[in-house]
Amino acid sequence: MGREQLIEMVKDTAAHTEAGTMRQAPDVAKVKADVYINPDRFEEECAKVFRRIPLMMAASCEIPNAGDFKTMETVGVPVLLVRGKDGEARAFLNSCSHRGTNVATDERGNASRFVCPYHGWTFNQTGDLVGVASSEDFGAVDKDDLCLQQFPILEKAGLIWVTLDPKSTLDISKFLSGYDELLGAFGFENWHFFESRTLKGPNWKIAYDGYLDFYHLPVLHANTFGADTSNRANFYSFGPHTRLLAPSTSMPVPEGMGAASQADKSDDDIPVESLLDGVWTIFPHISIATFYGGSRGVMISQLFPGDNVSESYTVQNYLMAEPPTDEIREQAHAQFSMLETVVAEEDYATGIRQQKALEAGFTDYVYFGRNEEGGQTFHGWVQKILDASDEELNDLF
Ligand code: FES
Repeated sequence: MGREQLIEMVKDTAAHTEAGTMRQAPDVAKVKADVYINPDRFEEECAKVFRRIPLMMAASCEIPNAGDFKTMETVGVPVLLVRGKDGEARAFLNSCSHRGTNVATDERGNASRFVCPYHGWTFNQTGDLVGVASSEDFGAVDKDDLCLQQFPILEKAGLIWVTLDPKSTLDISKFLSGYDELLGAFGFENWHFFESRTLKGPNWKIAYDGYLDFYHLPVLHANTFGADTSNRANFYSFGPHTRLLAPSTSMPVPEGMGAASQADKSDDDIPVESLLDGVWTIFPHISIATFYGGSRGVMISQLFPGDNVSESYTVQNYLMAEPPTDEIREQAHAQFSMLETVVAEEDYATGIRQQKALEAGFTDYVYFGRNEEGGQTFHGWVQKILDASDEELNDLF
């Protein structure tokens, strides 16, 4: 695994480019329209997918130093991610063991301790209860029983996965299916967090479908970046995680940098940017795409179910390979503003119209072509996970 496998994919894509072909799924697949609009199905997905499957919650460079923290609420679960003095990232239920309110209320920051804003109980970076306010008045409690509840966590390849179930026995490494070794080539642990933005969208699967094919690029994005792009994508899968690579040199990457242009290169001469070309998705809700606004950067999109079946929200996180200078900062900002506009006004605006049309109730199925294997695979995995008991989960990966 690792570089050899990345080379193999790039060479495969370059060969398809030369032959004018693409990888295809065996058949056209159909998916029930109901999965996008049924409130019961939505609740089941929140409970069985988002609360049982490891979620990529942050890049390591979002909390690089001891005491750095990030809070978020995911499918109703308040989460506090903190890096301790020992360098370990930990994930806690952001809920005080006294009466339950959030112990950290800022979205990001640095703290040696978390003092609950309600009555002042204090927790350290490892979640221990280290201070009960006016303890002589409060009465005796066993502090060891009142630590913050901790979630299973794994930090690999400069990314942090958390399972939102303190009792989960799912092995996060197994779930990653070796994909983390490939993602490791980005070297995200040394990248720089630039900024993030949040966008509202339709049902989380309608929104995510758009990250899983290139079929729509030259049509939906004709007026922004898509006019000269290919609508083909080679699809590679690693367990439930997927990668899309364009078997065409027309993608908007710097000349000679795309995977499709590497046919004549020896393995050693293929630049790392080409090895990492394309769109990487991490099941069930992450997309990573490379851009060159000012200098090399990625947009890591985290998709989450919204308050109901018709809504989702996406956090776009922008990371830069090098610390941005003022000039690069300006160009990167412009690039990311463009991406925000494209996703909001083209992808999600279309998805919201799709959602409403499906909710009219006349459509039984939607279709994923042989050239849309990403969507086929994604929907297959969602169903597989919904069908699996807690005990069966480890055997899926
Ligand atoms: Fe936190 Fe009371 S709820 S100290």
